[in-house]
Amino acid sequence: HMKGAIFDLDGVIVDTAKYHYLAWRSLAEELGFQFTEEHNERLKGVSRMRSLDILLEIGGLEFSEAEKLVMADKKNRLYVEYISGLDESELLPGVKAYLSGLRMRGVGVALGSASKNAVFILDKLNIAGLFDAVVDGNKVSRAKPDPEVFQTACWELGLQPQDCVVFEDAEAGVAAGKAAGMQVVGIGKREVLKEADLVVSGLHEL
Ligand code: G6P
Ligand code: MG
Repeated sequence: HMKGAIFDLDGVIVDTAKYHYLAWRSLAEELGFQFTEEHNERLKGVSRMRSLDILLEIGGLEFSEAEKLVMADKKNRLYVEYISGLDESELLPGVKAYLSGLRMRGVGVALGSASKNAVFILDKLNIAGLFDAVVDGNKVSRAKPDPEVFQTACWELGLQPQDCVVFEDAEAGVAAGKAAGMQVVGIGKREVLKEADLVVSGLHEL
């Protein structure tokens, strides 16, 4: 019986993955190497600094921590520029209906995202009011697949892990949900989200 529902943001609520991809690709181009959509799969659900490490590993480059902070900041400024035009029309199908339905049934609704831009995005999409708790990359320090983000969200909802269901599109996120002892609904493809308890193509299917 589900008492709490914890949603990832990027790829579950809104398709920001394409903007993350464009921003990382432009950084890679500047550094002189190709960064493909296939490479980008490895960055989904992964924190900003860890994503940069993976990107640099793909390019076979090494930099100091200080240089990496500058690069991550540059990528983020470009990303924020891309998403500053977001509006409700970019909500993924079924999001509003599903979240509102859960709330009407008394299910606690939380966000569990690695993004430090989560609140900005929720405001742009005009759905901040649908969440009882928002846990993002500013609140937690351990990135998915670590369960911290979902454990914190569950705690903020006042629930136990076995009462919560996680909705995730990334492999690292599914692993984080399972590590937290929760049921996980994968959003995407079964081949990628092997560990999920159920896989659907989007919230509109539920
Ligand atoms: C989400 C996305 C990742 C992104 C991470 C950090 O998990 O799926 O692609 O790197 O958030 O986002 P941020 O907005 O803080 O750079
Ligand atoms: Mg995601």
